Amino acid sequence: MSYNLLKGKRGIIFGALDSNSIAWKTAERVHEEGGKFVLSNAPIAMRMGTIKELAKKTGSEIVAADATSEEDLNALVAQSVKILGGKLDFVLHSIGMSVNVRKGRHYTDQNYDFSTKGWDVSALSFHKVMQSLYKADAMNKWGSIVALTYMAAQRTFPDYNDMADNKAYLESVARSFGYFFGKEKKVRVNTISQSPTPTTAGQGVKGFDGFISYAEKMSPLGNATALECADYTVSLFSDLTKKVTMQNLFHDGGFSNTGVSKEVMDHFVE
Ligand SMILES: NC(=O)c1ccc[n+]([C@@H]2O[C@H](COP(=O)([O-])OP(=O)(O)OC[C@H]3O[C@@H](n4cnc5c(N)ncnc54)[C@H](O)[C@@H]3O)[C@@H](O)[C@H]2O)c1
Repeated sequence: MSYNLLKGKRGIIFGALDSNSIAWKTAERVHEEGGKFVLSNAPIAMRMGTIKELAKKTGSEIVAADATSEEDLNALVAQSVKILGGKLDFVLHSIGMSVNVRKGRHYTDQNYDFSTKGWDVSALSFHKVMQSLYKADAMNKWGSIVALTYMAAQRTFPDYNDMADNKAYLESVARSFGYFFGKEKKVRVNTISQSPTPTTAGQGVKGFDGFISYAEKMSPLGNATALECADYTVSLFSDLTKKVTMQNLFHDGGFSNTGVSKEVMDHFVE
């Protein structure tokens, strides 16, 4: 269902790799709500993914940018304003990758070059994106910037590895930059802490199947899907949430505030 919540709004959506990606579903929903945007992803993802299909479907242009490169980001911001015909109202950072996870390095046996790379891609890139937008004065007043995170930033999930630390950093950047973006430009910055979701990045986490079914059984409303995350993001991009900023917002069916559920208890009762 469409409510025209984003009619006349312009933005950038990072991170649509394939149709499972949270950013892909968000792009589809933003399009349905009347928003216009530029799609961006790392140059390598252009070759691997099917982003062109999404661009065609949503009438969007694609501008490649490595989110760790200030040069790429500055060019992307300038091009996006030009392509869309004005300053931006929304930006989605939906980017994550851990080299330690990819290479199977245990948390107690990190390769720090891998850690640094993963941190740059998954966490510092959010600061870089916002700094590019801020310096170019590319955001409209009452614009909205959202990044995606996971609850491992607050509580330990052993197999989430160094992504837990990256997410803690990402959430802190949202608060710190949110202060300056709010004060100077009246722009809000939030993170959405999403349920485990079957995507390329999600399934890269060791033991993901156990992880997702445990979360499903622990959440009174069940896990939030990628499409539901897209809906929530649309609400944060809309004018209905203008004073929500510097928050980490749990979108997880109640998982984060549940001590134990009946389903999980039953598992331990003979
Ligand atoms: N899937 C889950 O269970 C889950 C849960 C909570 C939060 N998240 C977060 O949601 C976000 C989106 O992930 P997803 O689950 O949709 O998976 P995904 O694999 O579809 O998306 C990750 C994206 O990051 C992009 N990326 C990687 N390196 C990049 C770089 N250098 N520059 C620009 N882009 C780069 C990839 O190309 C890909 O499009 C991530 O931040 C992830 O941590 C995912």
